[in-house]
Order: sequence, then structure tokens, then C-alpha cells
Amino acid sequence: MRIGCPKEIKAHEHRVGLTPTAVREAIAHGHEVLVEAGAGAGAGFSDAAYAAVGAEVVATAEEAFARADMIVKVKEPQPAERARLRAGQVLFTYLHLAPDPEQTRDLLASGVTAIAYETVTDRMGGLPLLAPMSEVAGRLAPQVGAWALQRSNGGRGVLLGGAPGVERADVAVIGGGVVGTQAARVAAGMGADVTLLDISLPRMRTLDDLFGDRFRTRLASAGAVEAAIAAADLVIGAVLIPGAAAPKVVRRAQLALMRPGAVLVDVAIDQGGCFETSRPTTHVDPIYEVDGIVHYCVANMPGAVPRTSTIALGNATLPFVLALADKGWRQACEDDPNLLAGLNVHAGHLTYAAVGAALGIDVLSARLALRR
Ligand SMILES: NC(=O)c1ccc[n+]([C@@H]2O[C@H](COP(=O)([O-])OP(=O)(O)OC[C@H]3O[C@@H](n4cnc5c(N)ncnc54)[C@H](O)[C@@H]3O)[C@@H](O)[C@H]2O)c1
Repeated sequence: MRIGCPKEIKAHEHRVGLTPTAVREAIAHGHEVLVEAGAGAGAGFSDAAYAAVGAEVVATAEEAFARADMIVKVKEPQPAERARLRAGQVLFTYLHLAPDPEQTRDLLASGVTAIAYETVTDRMGGLPLLAPMSEVAGRLAPQVGAWALQRSNGGRGVLLGGAPGVERADVAVIGGGVVGTQAARVAAGMGADVTLLDISLPRMRTLDDLFGDRFRTRLASAGAVEAAIAAADLVIGAVLIPGAAAPKVVRRAQLALMRPGAVLVDVAIDQGGCFETSRPTTHVDPIYEVDGIVHYCVANMPGAVPRTSTIALGNATLPFVLALADKGWRQACEDDPNLLAGLNVHAGHLTYAAVGAALGIDVLSARLALRR
């Protein structure tokens, strides 16, 4: 199979669909790989690094799209990219179609077979191609929170780890899933005094077994959340109710209970935010203040560290890329129901129920799509 890896063209996107490591594996499996010139530059991978492992570096996106049987990307295809897709071609990338009728219409019209990273599942019912980005955002949250706590950024001027003879900062992490666990780990590692709150007792039991005394766990009752934010220098919001907007765990009136200059990092902003006063920000202008509390609400946090994010995502996508290339998409999806769960669009049909329900479009079951 011929695999194409174009340069991402969405604003501020510096990740790339394939690393040189992935290219090397694909070539070892007998495939050809076309990489658009400059595709890896934002993540620190030069054209020479791709060429050294056997990729053909092509000058334009047109060429990568036109010659490839399968396109591997990061972000949903932009209008110019959608115009280059065709029937019989496979697209493997994040799509997030439910809120995006224009993209859905174009993908259906193109006839492409599109497999979405965000709906591929694993044996435990998890989302293995979303988890790496949650891990990155979680580890990044205390780092950006520490930065926002600096006086020059409007914060209360405390260092997470304190100093000899000086108290450590108090960090509250609300939500103890993938993001929250990584955030609590890193905040504790930076020397802060960390409390993690979640509504799931089994989850807290697991975390308690895994992490012991490194941070404390509390049931996220309204009272416990209020006590935690009142004591905190830094609050990290990491709650998720799958398929729903994030619940508001901190109301505006409660900001008055907090320490002036305390920081809220709302990682759940991509699901609408879990603090009432959150609104999405960008890496260019990441923070703002409400009632004396600094808010950091960047919706694509992993974009701040494109090299780490690219490698983390690539580690997770590689087995699927190889299966799709080795077997062809039909056989690969036939053999692996978790990959089949990623099929969103095939030959003019929508094949993912939740997207169909969100957009009011009839859906062909993914199993039936395998026969078309
Ligand atoms: N901003 C970004 O760049 C970025 C990057 C990755 C993930 N995210 C977002 O971060 C959020 C968390 O993702 P995740 O992968 O950790 O999800 P997850 O499902 O692994 O964890 C969510 C946790 O929240 C808990 N929870 C639900 N309601 C709660 C409540 N009211 N109080 C306390 N805990 C509650 C759940 O029990 C669960 O443990 C999601 O909204 C995700 O989309 C954002």
C-alpha cells in the first residue's frame, strides 16, 4: 500500500500524522510512504529524517493526496484537503464529525473511507487514540498552572514546591480519570500538596492502591469540592461525563471563596468547561482573570508540545496504521471490532450512530459497510 502523510494545515497545528519511526515500520512491512516536505518540521522531524528511513519526500500536498491509497493525519481534513479525497481512499485521523456538518457533507460526497481516531476503542471500552492526548494534557496542566501562578502572570506568586522552611502550594484536581491522574502525579512530583476529587469510589480505590501517599483522594461532594477550592492555590478541572457537556463543578459565586490570585486550569474546556467562568482560550493568549482568579482554558493543550504529542499519538496509532496497510481496511476492520468502531464514513454512507443522531443523517451499520 502507498501511505501519504501531508503537512497539517489547520491553524497552530504542529503535530504530524507519522513519525520517522512509524515510517520505518511501515516500510519494513513492505509499504511505500509519501511525506509532504516540511510535514514534520513543527514536531522537530526534518525531511532528511524521513528520507533516511526510506520515505519519498514529495513537494506538495496535492501529490501526497493524489498518489496515496491511505492518508494518515492528525486533525480533521480542512476544506482544501477534503477536495482532494476520493472514493476508494482511506483517511485515518481525528474527525470529530458530530458538531461539524460541513465536514461530514464533504466526506460523504468524496466517497472516502474515513476512520476516526476518537471512536476507535480498546478491549476495556477505553479510547486508545484519545488517551495519549489526555495523558499529555494532564501532565501539562500543573506546568501551565505553575506558570500562571507566577506574579507576572497574575497569579498569587507561589511556587508549587515551596522552598525549605516555606509551605508547598496546595493543588486540587477535580476528576481522577486519565487527565486528572497524570495531573495529580506531576503536581505531586513538582512538590505540591495534592488532593484529587472524583465521584467514582472504585476509581479512587484504584488510585489509592497505585499512588499511596503521593496524593490524597476525596469523594467529590459539593462540600468537599468547595473546601478544596477554598484551600487551593491551583485547581485543575478534569471531569468528563462521556458524550455530555462537562458538569459545572465550580460556580462563579464560589470564586469569592478562593484565594486571590489562585489559578483555575480547565482541561475539560473542550467539552464546554467544568468551571462556570471558563471560556476557551488559545496558546497565543492562554489566560484571563475573573473576580481575581486566573483562568487557563486552552482547548488543545497538547498543541503546546507537538513533539511529545506527535510521538505519543504515533505510538498509539502505529499498530492500526500497520493493520490497515497490511490487510486493507476491510480485512483489518473485519478482524478487529475496536478498529471497526472507528469507521465513521464509507462510500457516501455515514457509519457511526452517534454522529448520525447528532446530525440527523441516516446511518449504515459499520458491519454492513464492510460488504459495500
Ligand atoms: N484541553 C485539552 O487540551 C484536553 C486534552 C485532552 C483531554 N481533555 C479533556 O479532559 C477531560 C477529562 O478527560 P479524561 O480523559 O481524563 O476523562 P476520563 O473519563 O478518563 O476521566 C473523567 C473523570 O471525571 C470523573 N467525574 C465525572 N463527573 C465528575 C464530577 N462531577 N466531579 C468529579 N469527578 C467527576 C469521572 O468519574 C472520571 O474519573 C475531558 O473533557 C477531555 O475531553 C482536554
